[in-house]
Amino acid sequence: MKVGFIGLGHMGAAMAGSLLEAGHEVTVYNRTLSKAQALIDQGAHLAAHVADACQGDAVITMLADDDAVEGIVFGEGGVLQSLGERTIHVSMSTISVAVGERLANGHATAGRRFVAAPVFGRPDVAAKGKLFIVVAGAPDVVGACTPLFGAMGQKTIPIGEVPQTANLVKLSGNFLIASVLEALSEAMALVRKAGIDPHRYFELLTSTLFTGPLFTNYGGLIARQEYKPAGFAAPLGEKDIRLALAAAEKLRVPMPLASLVHDRLQTLIARGGEQLDWSGIGQIAAQDAGLR
Ligand SMILES: NC(=O)c1ccc[n+]([C@@H]2O[C@H](COP(=O)([O-])OP(=O)(O)OC[C@H]3O[C@@H](n4cnc5c(N)ncnc54)[C@H](OP(=O)(O)O)[C@@H]3O)[C@@H](O)[C@H]2O)c1
Repeated sequence: MKVGFIGLGHMGAAMAGSLLEAGHEVTVYNRTLSKAQALIDQGAHLAAHVADACQGDAVITMLADDDAVEGIVFGEGGVLQSLGERTIHVSMSTISVAVGERLANGHATAGRRFVAAPVFGRPDVAAKGKLFIVVAGAPDVVGACTPLFGAMGQKTIPIGEVPQTANLVKLSGNFLIASVLEALSEAMALVRKAGIDPHRYFELLTSTLFTGPLFTNYGGLIARQEYKPAGFAAPLGEKDIRLALAAAEKLRVPMPLASLVHDRLQTLIARGGEQLDWSGIGQIAAQDAGLR
């Protein structure tokens, strides 16, 4: 397929790479031009303007947050103004339900095709084309994107026809991950304070009851206190829990645990952890326990 890709950060660059590897014709756009070079070397075309990426079969946006997505989509010369009549906009960023709804309404009003398809998986997973993709939108539009999802992900999970429901599912998932990070961090601080080797403890956990990828990946990072380089930076994690809480407030759903993990991420950032991975919550739990 002919596909535009907007947003070449940690995730976007890896995902655009997977599309190229699968043989799609990819045109890339990024605010910071230099990040496009590696993909151009792999055969991508460069879009000097957002509009140049919006004329193929589909254009994917993978941007940091609500503000970035709103600017790129609704701004002057943005995606909505530039989208070809049959071009599908696939919104893959983790954004609020409110902005997800604005996007869905904006495209519907303009008579343009739109799906929301946020993802689970970190940049290393994206680089292998092994993401989990949660997708919502009109079935024919979702169906038309199948070859793209197949190139970027190992599994695509359709969740319904209302695009913003995919955004809510993604936020709920990140809340669960953050809760596991908090629990792992507290448990690791406890055993370390007692003088138990955190690596042996990690092995024990992951070879018995706690075998899933969350425990094996994040448990290892916390045991090794390896919070740099960030696969998923603390400010992005803070954003997601804040957005989960905003959705919960609108739906009148108390989420006390989400409030707690949001505070932990705020603490991590306030103590200079802006550049750290969000598993750096482990560092906060260790500091609180008086550990180095
Ligand atoms: N990293 C993960 O593990 C992970 C996993 C699943 C989902 N996600 C989600 O995927 C999205 C991207 O994450 P990432 O890790 O790739 O983030 P990132 O490395 O920080 O990249 C962010 C991208 O957004 C662009 N951007 C930011 N603000 C902008 C603005 N105002 N206008 C135009 N472009 C702007 C950046 O452009 P510049 O290069 O010019 O700064 C860059 O291309 C986020 O919504 C994140 O929550 C991340």
